[in-house]
Parts: sequence; structure tokens; C-alpha cells
Amino acid sequence: MRLISIVGARPQFVKLAALNWAIQGKHNHLILHTGQHYDYGMSDSFFEEFQLPAPNLNLGIGSGPHGAQTGKMMAGIEAYLHEVQPDWVLAYGDTNSTIAGALAAAKIGIPIAHVEAGLRSGDRSMPEEINRILTDHSSELCLAPTEGAMLNLHKEGLTERSRLVGDVMVDVLRRIEKAVEQAPPDLPWEPESPYIIATLHRQALMESREKLFDVVTALGSLDVPVFLIAHPRLSSALQQFGMLPALAKNVTLVEPLNHHQMVHALKNSAGVITDSGGLQKEAYLLRTPCLTVRATTEWPETLEGGWNRLVWEDLESLTAGEWLKGGGTSGSPFGDGNAAESIVDCIEAYD
Ligand code: UD1
Repeated sequence: MRLISIVGARPQFVKLAALNWAIQGKHNHLILHTGQHYDYGMSDSFFEEFQLPAPNLNLGIGSGPHGAQTGKMMAGIEAYLHEVQPDWVLAYGDTNSTIAGALAAAKIGIPIAHVEAGLRSGDRSMPEEINRILTDHSSELCLAPTEGAMLNLHKEGLTERSRLVGDVMVDVLRRIEKAVEQAPPDLPWEPESPYIIATLHRQALMESREKLFDVVTALGSLDVPVFLIAHPRLSSALQQFGMLPALAKNVTLVEPLNHHQMVHALKNSAGVITDSGGLQKEAYLLRTPCLTVRATTEWPETLEGGWNRLVWEDLESLTAGEWLKGGGTSGSPFGDGNAAESIVDCIEAYD
């Protein structure tokens, strides 16, 4: 079979690694990169560390307003799908590259397998939520990471197309965890302890000067060092709002980490403060206490047992310190680390 993975943004390269390991040697696997992320540290560095083959095509679309960005991607993807005639398109997660791939494929009748299907935050103002819903409804196979995701798909009438496969990020995390234990990567700070890591990049936060100021001020009032690992969008928001000189002494802005560094940093941190979906879940899997600077989450399983808390309306709890004690669950709702193999099995078994 010929399978094509359509990717473009940082979290998708991690998920692609899991699928590439599972597909290698079994099927012809093409990779189309939309170019949504283009900085070395947001894209190429992931292909290098996961030893992924270079994309067969990079559309080089780059940044732009949602409609223009997604539309340009669709045009490029459609042309390439006509050229290479794949049996399946693999779409990952919830970014603009995901929806562009799914819509382009659906319109020319190529079946789509959606990796990480069925997630819902319930917040339709998030571009990612719209991308998730539309991608699921365009897909032939909705590959769900959790029971909760299966239930969401069921409620939307997609039961027959849905399969519970587990979470591909567990596949990757378990491998990388071993690798960083054997060969700990260098981090851009001294391994002092304890420290907190933070990442912020969501549209809602980057567009609100007031909220971003409140969050950055709360980070500055913590009595431990905070390493703020900055997505390029955060760096430009801080600059644009004139907040860079006002960063507190304990807050250090650092460039994006590669995935090995991120897992190592997360494992060794006292806690994480983030608005990323993937990082919330990785924190849960590594049992690192997490505060999520959002009002909703598409990963509600992480809230059970107290390892993760939503603090959009409650920034005071950042400084209270109670959260750093962590939670008490031993559950593993995200599967056993063989999700990518299960996905390949589902595609092979489909008729
Ligand atoms: C995208 C995804 C989001 C995901 C995130 C991970 C959508 C709607 N959002 O958000 O779900 O969690 O990726 O990072 O698809 N930029 C650079 N260099 C880059 C990439 C981006 O400077 O390599 C800057 C540009 O100024 C750009 C801004 O970041 O305008 C936003 O980039 P974009 O890809 O549109 O969205 P993300 O915020 O990265």
C-alpha cells in the first residue's frame, strides 16, 4: 500500500515518528510537509532527532491568516495527491495542516485515517477544535487515543468509523524516556534543582496583552527559577507588547527545545506550566505536576487524580505552590505504547 502522511507543525513531527517506525518496511510511506512551521528548531531539528526521512515534498506555505494559510495548503496537497495517488492519507492531530490535508483528500475521494481522533475541548472558539471536528467528519477511520475520545465520536454519529488504538505519543515517550536515561541531553541551563518549565503559545493568550501580562507576572512571583521555553509566537508577542524588559529575574526565556531535551527537562522539573495539549499529557505520563493556562482541555483524563489543573481563571494558584505536590492516580488511560502498530493494523484490515 502507499500511505502519505501530511504534517506541518511541531507536534505532528513527534506523532509522525511513531507512525514511521510502524510503517517502515511494510508499506510505501510518503511524507508531505506543508511548511506551516519552518524555523530549524520547530521543524528540521525534529526530523533529525527522530531520523525521519526528508519530506518527499515541502510546500513551504509558512505563516498567514487561517483561511489563506489553509487554502494555500489545500491547493498544494491536492496537486500532489493527484500525482502520487496514495491509498490512504494519514492526518495528525488538530492543526491547520491537518484540516487542509483532510479536506483536500476527502474532495478527491482518497480515504483519510485521522490519528488522534475524537478529542474535544468543547471550546469552539479555538481553531484547533474546529480542525478536530471537521477532520473527524471527513475521515474514513477515526483512530481514537482514549475511551473518552471514542465516546465523543459516538455522540457525533461516528461509531462505525472509530477504532480505539491508544495514544501514539505514549509510543514515542516511552522510547525517548529510555534514550534520555541512557544519554541525558544538554539543556540550555545549569541542572540546578528545583526548577519549573513553562511554554505558552495559544492564540487566545498571544492576542490578549492583559492576560499575557498576568501570566508572565505570576511566573515572576514564583520563588523557583522558571525556564520559559518560547515558541516564536510568544517571543514576538512579548516583544510587541513591550514585556521583555519587565520579565522577573527568576524567569529565563529560552529557545525551543528538541524532543529529547523536552522530555529530559520535563522529567527533572518540579512542575510545568503550559497551554500545550501534548505537554499536559506528557507531564501526566511522567507524573510531573502540571498547571494548564486554559479554561478547557481536550485531555480531561489528565485532570483526574490531580496531576493537571486548569488555571485560566485562577492564576493565583500558580504561586500557592500546593500544586507542586502532584496527584495520586496510577491510571494509564492513554494505552500501552503500541498505538502506531494498532493504527497500521486498522488500515490493513479496512475494507
Ligand atoms: C500551531 C497549531 C497549534 C499547535 C502549534 C504547535 C494551528 C491552528 N495551530 O500553532 O495547534 O499547538 O502549532 O506549535 O494549526 N512561527 C515562526 N516560526 C515557525 C512557526 C511559526 O516564527 O517555525 C510564528 C509566526 O510568527 C506565525 C506564528 O508563529 O505567525 C503562528 O504560527 P502558526 O503555525 O500559524 O500557529 P502556531 O501558533 O504555531
